Amino acid sequence: MKFSSLLMCALAPFVSSSMSGFEADPELERFVMGLPKAELHLHMEGTVEPEVFLEIAARNGMDMPYKDAEAVKERMRSAYDLPSFIEMYEELIGVVRHPEDIRDITLHYYRKAYSQGVRRVEMYFDPQLHLERGMTLEEVFTGLAMGKAAAEAELDDLTIGFIMAFLRDRPAEAAMQVLEDAKPWHSMLLGVGLDNPEVEDFPTKFKEVYARAKSYGLRLTSHCDVQQKNTIAHHWGVIKVLGVERIDHGLNVLDDPELLAEVKKRGIGLTGVPSLFYREMPGRMEYRAGAIKGLLDAGVEISIHSDDPGMKRGLYVGDLMLRAQATAGMTREDLVTMAKNSFRTAWITDEECSNWLAAIDGYVAKFE
Ligand code: ADE
Ligand code: ZN
Repeated sequence: MKFSSLLMCALAPFVSSSMSGFEADPELERFVMGLPKAELHLHMEGTVEPEVFLEIAARNGMDMPYKDAEAVKERMRSAYDLPSFIEMYEELIGVVRHPEDIRDITLHYYRKAYSQGVRRVEMYFDPQLHLERGMTLEEVFTGLAMGKAAAEAELDDLTIGFIMAFLRDRPAEAAMQVLEDAKPWHSMLLGVGLDNPEVEDFPTKFKEVYARAKSYGLRLTSHCDVQQKNTIAHHWGVIKVLGVERIDHGLNVLDDPELLAEVKKRGIGLTGVPSLFYREMPGRMEYRAGAIKGLLDAGVEISIHSDDPGMKRGLYVGDLMLRAQATAGMTREDLVTMAKNSFRTAWITDEECSNWLAAIDGYVAKFE
């Protein structure tokens, strides 16, 4: 997906000359950072920044092969695609041992996101990664509850919900077990998701797990990462076999007119992520931001999200909206539409949604 160079010229005041040493137009930056928005796609585990990682490793008495934040960053920089990213992510999240670790990681994230206008967070977390290391589900949920309580008390108007993810590259039986074992905490969940590397036929693999989750009143979303093998078939699978309401990433919807029409017809929200793994070629940002703009222009309810802000260059949702805007020549109206889409596709009540849409209109009117 190419963005138009003509459009880039028309928007010159808002376009940075260099994406590496990116500098946003200061007025646009103020506008974007203050614009109310919902963060619908991020992984608790991927919010861990190098400094937070080192602090938790030290207090847990863990002897890590990283002597400072730069060395941790170097490990993060080794990621060049989804499998190599997940290998690093699973290694680094090994420092989490106690509920307090989860409380501190999430609180750090909530404060940072809030400073960029986020007023609603729907956070993925990967219980299996913590269970595999000997934590209990009770400890995981306690940590999440502590972080949420602290953030909602401290940060006005912020609300937080959780999406329990199953690992696509582990057996479906393990997912079903977690779903059942987590029953005492289902009231803390908005819904369930699927993450980790994209494996062959994953929608079919998790059909029963999703049917069971739905029968428990949980909402359904799933990753379809960008440009994975069999991506179009996987998109159809998560829609038709799993019955998702949202697709995480989902940018390849733009490549298939029939799929695009189906996504629009069903009102499926896409949680677009423009950020790159450290070693991806810089041109990839153009592809991702261009696809987000294309989907927006096609009338899809897409919004921008940060995915793994701590492990992908420390870029949070406001930072990413500014970079996507500059890269794909988005207008200020596009940014407002995406902020509205984030609330339209959030798992909140109709009343909360209307209030946020009105708050956005009020913000825009006051800003101009
Ligand atoms: N886990 C963390 N980030 C992910 C991503 N982008 N795709 C799949 N699983 C993930
Ligand atoms: Zn993700």
